[in-house]
Amino acid sequence: MTTSNYINGVWQPALDGASYDVTNPADNSLIARVPDSSGDDARAAVDAAAAALPAWRARSARERAQLLKRWHAAIVSNADDLSLIISSEQGKPQAEARGEVAYGASYVEWFAEEAVRAYGDVIPEPVRGKKILVVKEPVGVVAAITPWNFPLAMIARKIAPALAAGCTVVAKPAEDTPLTALALASLAAQAGFPPGVLNIITSSRERTPSVAAAWQNDGRVRKITFTGSTTVGKLLARGAADTLKKLSLELGGNAPFLVFEDADLDEAVNGLMAAKFRNGGQTCVSPNRVYVHEAVYERFAQKLAARVSALKVGPATEADSQIGPMINPRAVEKIAAHVADAKSKGAVALCGGERLRNLGPNYYAPSVLSEATHEMQLAHEETFGPVVPLFRFRDEEHVATLANDTPFGLAAYFYTQNLARVWRMAERLETGLVGINEGAVAAEAAPFGGVKESGYGREGSRYGLDDYMHTKYLCMGGLSR
Ligand code: SIN
Repeated sequence: MTTSNYINGVWQPALDGASYDVTNPADNSLIARVPDSSGDDARAAVDAAAAALPAWRARSARERAQLLKRWHAAIVSNADDLSLIISSEQGKPQAEARGEVAYGASYVEWFAEEAVRAYGDVIPEPVRGKKILVVKEPVGVVAAITPWNFPLAMIARKIAPALAAGCTVVAKPAEDTPLTALALASLAAQAGFPPGVLNIITSSRERTPSVAAAWQNDGRVRKITFTGSTTVGKLLARGAADTLKKLSLELGGNAPFLVFEDADLDEAVNGLMAAKFRNGGQTCVSPNRVYVHEAVYERFAQKLAARVSALKVGPATEADSQIGPMINPRAVEKIAAHVADAKSKGAVALCGGERLRNLGPNYYAPSVLSEATHEMQLAHEETFGPVVPLFRFRDEEHVATLANDTPFGLAAYFYTQNLARVWRMAERLETGLVGINEGAVAAEAAPFGGVKESGYGREGSRYGLDDYMHTKYLCMGGLSR
């Protein structure tokens, strides 16, 4: 475990020596102290990334791919230690943390393979004597600001395509989970990335605005990629406007999950369990509103409540834990407030519906709430916890309207056996991702990202590489002579 900033290939404290505590959400115990970086550290990181850029982008795609493959191998061979670090700072159960290492590593491998396929184009010319060529170029220095819910996968799927494209990177992991990112930097150093190509600094919530401002205002930073709240995403978009940086924003969601009367209910329950309880519901693509057709509502609710009440809640140190603690006290308080509001407006807890204070400060019971309505707060805001509200519906048209009745548009899911309805709903839902009879949608080969106030840009797939490149048009004339 490393606990320093990594700038220009050198492990170092914050320039003014400040630091902050990293704690384990299972019991709020201290794990480590890391640098509390300021705008000065952020600018030093950009100095390093800008200096490293010309040589890095000049390397052949094959060379960049080989380094990414070495990094991938280092991540895979350190999977046990990485998953221990993830569980300690983020709280997720060991099995999930191991899954996250494999998931994050898959992005590094994918982009190592994609680096050599950043093809351009030759377009038939409209007039004789000219040639139209299109080439792809790295955007330049990229600033990545990453969330705490997937401390390895989210930073890997930003850094890997940036490096594959020939960009250099400055990155800041979330305050709560800096250690996994620093461990990744250490493995990147072992893999042989040159100094300055990847720089990682850590900072507390209080100092993060000064880091973000330094990167926003620096004309050398040509792209900001951010995963986190819509509120912060909008601030970054405004701040990046002065230097017109490229942006990728993967922001909040409020995913609907629809179960039609002709759905295979067992499959729908399986899909919901996978989508909802991954990382204890602390996932942007977690279903936040579950609409069930009235003809199957009671049966679905019963099957679901049986599965949810059997989930084992506990710290990552217990091998059979399936749901860990929430990330911090603010997160549990938000969940408790949503559930209290729903109950006060008529929701009924079929299971859970309360904090589990006996386990520790940050635990919330996996919960199913029936009789949810759109008057409740949880219909409009992401709860980001292990709570499933069940809404009743009768009519396809009406449920499609309800599903889209949100400013957000990241993910949606629906279960039906009717092929015509599959296409109607797939086209109707206003989201960047749609799970059709499927709860596990994310993959390195697929484009991940939202529409509306869930942001823009895509991560993963060839579209994810494109987001780190410019399209340059070369017009060659004088060829008819
Ligand atoms: C997220 O919660 O932002 C990402 C989850 C995923 O990659 O599936």
